[in-house]
Amino acid sequence: MNVLVTGGAGFIGSHTVVALAEAGFTPIILDDFSNSEAGVIDGLEQILGYRPTTYTENCHNPETLRRIFRDENIQGVIHFAAFKAVGESMQKPLEYYDNNVGALIVLLKTMQECHIPNLIFSSSCTVYGEPDALPVTEQTPVKPAFSVYGNTKQIGEEILHDTVSAGIPLKITALRYFNPIGAHPSAAIGELPRGVPNNLVPFITQTAAGLRSSLTVFGDDYPTPDGTCIRDYIHVLDLAEAHVAALRHLVQLNTSSFYDIFNIGTGQGVSVMELINSFERVTGVSLNYSIGPRRSGDVTAVYAGVEKSEQMLGWKATRSMDQALEDAWRWQVRVDKG
Ligand code: UD1
Repeated sequence: MNVLVTGGAGFIGSHTVVALAEAGFTPIILDDFSNSEAGVIDGLEQILGYRPTTYTENCHNPETLRRIFRDENIQGVIHFAAFKAVGESMQKPLEYYDNNVGALIVLLKTMQECHIPNLIFSSSCTVYGEPDALPVTEQTPVKPAFSVYGNTKQIGEEILHDTVSAGIPLKITALRYFNPIGAHPSAAIGELPRGVPNNLVPFITQTAAGLRSSLTVFGDDYPTPDGTCIRDYIHVLDLAEAHVAALRHLVQLNTSSFYDIFNIGTGQGVSVMELINSFERVTGVSLNYSIGPRRSGDVTAVYAGVEKSEQMLGWKATRSMDQALEDAWRWQVRVDKG
């Protein structure tokens, strides 16, 4: 089965390309490389033993999508292509709505027109905001978004829900990702943030590598055991494999219209300080860090209830956080060597 992976050169997208290929699917990449490097395709070639078919285009043009759907005999789409920087989304709301919502609508209309039945959509645990109870399950109410980025994910989910409710023949699964970290153990692909990383683990590995002088821990006065925020860090390859499980689940369904949502996390809450300590222990590198003020918009704690994805998708995370941190570090060392 040929699967179009939009944003397939990105961090999660590239690891999902590997997971799809290992599971016997044929991934076809569509990426405009606006936030990824051409070298990712070389890394994929190194892992897969062949160069995946790649289209350097975006998802805004229905003619492009029609052509790829037809030429590549596409039967399913995994839609990663989106902007994801929370801070930037507040400065550039129209770019975010256009890319994350506008292109999704183009994709859905073209899939319907071309009779492509299966879609997996990248959503985020950001839709839960500051939850009232933990872990968050798929029944946990969605809170008003505190960023444009978060709002694009909520609106995206609503569009998918309404599309399927109208009886349009599309089978759609939205995956709410928790915090993906790590890299492929070969270090051929990994996370490549442009500029100063926003996310914790790339900032840690760049600091450990000497590219940044010090990590700031954003607040140690939260109501958690050690005062730092708690998240659910998942190895990116586990997350990638969740897409394969979700796709298999969709394909097997005996219905023409379907929409559902799944949390994709480990179910384990880990604090910023616990993660830093684990990083130092598994890599043997000591990290220069200091405690700073809270970052605005951060929630105290969020981690996944994973029962639904285990029961309905037959998937659960198997890799440890230590393994993810080792893989992230191996990747950083490799990137630094060039
Ligand atoms: C962030 C986004 C979220 C997005 C996700 C994608 C915000 C507020 N949220 O999630 O919408 O879906 O990335 O991966 O940006 N931390 C530090 N120092 C740092 C960086 C982070 O202490 O230099 C802390 C943060 O305060 C947080 C934890 O590390 O407690 C994780 O931060 P991060 O990796 O940015 O992820 P989220 O904020 O959970």
